Amino acid sequence: MKLEDMILQRVKDMPPSGIRKYFDMINEMKDVISLGIGEPDFVTPWKIREAGIYSLEQGHTHYSSNAGFIELREEISKYLDSRYKLNYDPISQIIVTVGGSEGIDIALRALVGPGDEVIIPEPSFVAYKGCTAFTGATSKIIELKAENEFKLTAKQLEEAITPRTKVVVIPFPNNPTGAIMTKEELEPIVAVLKDKDVIVISDEIYAELTYDEEHFSIASFPEMREKTIIINGFSKAYAMTGWRLGYACGDAVLIDAMKKIHQFAIMSAPTTAQFAAIEALKNGQEEVNEMVKEYNRRRRVLVNGFRKMGLDCFEPKGAFYVFPCIKSTGLTSDEFCEKLLISEKVLVVPGSTFGACGEGFVRACYASSMDQIQEAVKRIERFVSSIKNTENI
Ligand SMILES: Cc1ncc(COP(=O)(O)O)c(C=O)c1O
Repeated sequence: MKLEDMILQRVKDMPPSGIRKYFDMINEMKDVISLGIGEPDFVTPWKIREAGIYSLEQGHTHYSSNAGFIELREEISKYLDSRYKLNYDPISQIIVTVGGSEGIDIALRALVGPGDEVIIPEPSFVAYKGCTAFTGATSKIIELKAENEFKLTAKQLEEAITPRTKVVVIPFPNNPTGAIMTKEELEPIVAVLKDKDVIVISDEIYAELTYDEEHFSIASFPEMREKTIIINGFSKAYAMTGWRLGYACGDAVLIDAMKKIHQFAIMSAPTTAQFAAIEALKNGQEEVNEMVKEYNRRRRVLVNGFRKMGLDCFEPKGAFYVFPCIKSTGLTSDEFCEKLLISEKVLVVPGSTFGACGEGFVRACYASSMDQIQEAVKRIERFVSSIKNTENI
């Protein structure tokens, strides 16, 4: 038996991650400033950690119910209501997952299979396309454009929908561009979707991390409430990436279907993390606000830094990424990142990782300390001016 022949073709077809090689490279290097990884540099606030530790001391080391502790689902329900005016029944309309990642996976697995199409606006988080491919469904990509501030337009959406479309991913606030969509900007999108038999997976994992504008969920439109699954979680807002905890909310019919997959594949999300998350929702908002304030300061430094270097840089309104255009350097995204890493020891990620239309851009994550960001800006500036000087020779 050839083991290779036993692997499913759609798994074999999955290309290796575009950023893997950079992480391998930095493992071999010293003094690298990494603006590469999309996770908070903050440690989970102490009271949240303490709640996790206390739950262990109390001996809470067993499974929770499949959908998660009811106390946590009640807190999620209260939070969504008070923060975003979203009403979800804790018993039937919320499921606690292993990060937002599991939510995306089981939502897609519950909804699509071979022959179905999933509309994915790009550049965006790589899991949408990956998880879609593993279901056997086809991704239909919409290219978000810098001139539209990386927002989805109704025209693009209308043109992408076919009789096979079953799901549309709405990825805002966006990783990697930092784009958001306001209520007014979502209205024409809703007008396209409201009479279509299409489910929206709205990835709102960065909902807490917005600057200037509050996050607005597409599920807040009454006509979208039934056909939207919201994906959210604790990783980004509460600096809890390693706890692996997220949640999905939606109509009971959809959540029920997701629960079936979750119950066999996962059983239940981590118990310690669930205790910590209850504390996060009950008492963590102040810490979130502090972290957002700090991200905002860093965002400005990085955006101004790129602009001063002469690179076009869209002003991100959410998440913790800056997505400058590097086309003026004459380098591809990959060349830019590799040369920058080798010559100045700063890691940023090629925009092409997040979809072909991300070519010509790089993603820099500002969930790093202010000192590191300031030093990174100096080094990137030196790198960019060295390229421009070489061009002039
Ligand atoms: C847009 C987006 N959605 C979901 C996730 C998944 O996060 P987690 O599984 O840690 O909740 C990420 C992680 O980077 C992300 O960027």
